[in-house]
Amino acid sequence: MAKKVEAHSSETGRSYRLDRLIGQGGFGEVYLATPTPPGGLPPQVCIKISHRLTAWLREAYFAELLEQEPRALRVFDRFAEVDGGGMRYCMVMEYAEHGDVGAWLKQRGPQPERFVRREIAALLGALDTLHRGQALHRDLTPFNVFVCDKEQLKLGDFGIARHQRNRHGVTADAFNPLNAPTEIAWGWIRRWQQRDDIYQVGQLAAMLLRGDIASPMRSRDVRGLPCSDHLKEVIHRCLGSRGRRYEAAGELIAALRHRPKELSKGRVATLAGKRLSITGFLRRPRSEAFAAARKAGAIIQSKPGRTTDVLVRGRPNQLQIAGEDGGTKLMEIRRLAALGHRITIIGEQQFWKLAAPKTRARRRKG
Ligand SMILES: Nc1ncnc2c1ncn2[C@@H]1O[C@H](COP(=O)(O)OP(=O)(O)O)[C@@H](O)[C@H]1O
Ligand SMILES: [Mg+2]
Repeated sequence: MAKKVEAHSSETGRSYRLDRLIGQGGFGEVYLATPTPPGGLPPQVCIKISHRLTAWLREAYFAELLEQEPRALRVFDRFAEVDGGGMRYCMVMEYAEHGDVGAWLKQRGPQPERFVRREIAALLGALDTLHRGQALHRDLTPFNVFVCDKEQLKLGDFGIARHQRNRHGVTADAFNPLNAPTEIAWGWIRRWQQRDDIYQVGQLAAMLLRGDIASPMRSRDVRGLPCSDHLKEVIHRCLGSRGRRYEAAGELIAALRHRPKELSKGRVATLAGKRLSITGFLRRPRSEAFAAARKAGAIIQSKPGRTTDVLVRGRPNQLQIAGEDGGTKLMEIRRLAALGHRITIIGEQQFWKLAAPKTRARRRKG
């Protein structure tokens, strides 16, 4: 049977001439098409044709949910038509003239931070609507984010999007392993959550900055990204440990908007009974510092956490993830501070005064 060169919508009465095949994937085929009569539509549109009802239902549903979103691909029409002995299911949408982010980046290379911040923030607006409605996209790869007129990025391909019945997410039964968080790709965690969409947004930001989609960004390599310390810190939290990731799009939007407050140094009267962690270089070896702190009654923690009382801040390490203020320990302190945990930061001088006051005593004696 010859392939149809036209599709007809019983919904809108419009016909679509299929001009050129532009994409093929799990869903079916994607064509560039010309609508007749044009009546308010752009001269060229995209039509996604599938023979599978469920995928089409889902995709049409989520596209409709995002109808008002400026950063979701517009959907103009959806219909089913008889195709020989079976059916074919069609969705007519906005044509992204620059293709998907993967194809576009190949042409355009690395993007400046200003562009990345603006476009990621805009995309997050659409993702936030999904997340607030308790839905998950699950497929935010560079092939499913599209580059439209004026090089605006838009969300598309809701083929595996789902609603969650509760906050624990949905079974991670469909994902692209190359673009999934390690814990999920390796099968350690079986539920896809909103924060896993966030991981994918972090990857997308890194890809745009590097102009390269070939390999996923590892969180420890974030320090090499060509961008500000603030953006490095944000991307690091998207890609790093799952427990510390932004929970959903709304949180990530806020983090991009507000640069973290400078962590200022405080004072403590004693180290006795305090849970203490150290970051940066001290004048004396770490082991000596730990021994002195223990002697002064402190409880040493290798990494700061919810129970930490005091962080001793030495000279910053040049190779930190996000610059002078962005070692992982300081980033964690900032995250905890935002959650309302108060941790006092003290400098090295104060630390030795509290940890080794004996030197003074000895001097007095001698
Ligand atoms: N609206 C569009 N504009 C331009 N290209 C598109 C559009 N929709 C899809 N494509 C192309 O077709 C490919 C597959 O489409 P997609 O919607 O992602 O379906 P699948 O479910 O098969 O991944 C995309 O990666 C892209 O290259
Ligand atoms: Mg796709």
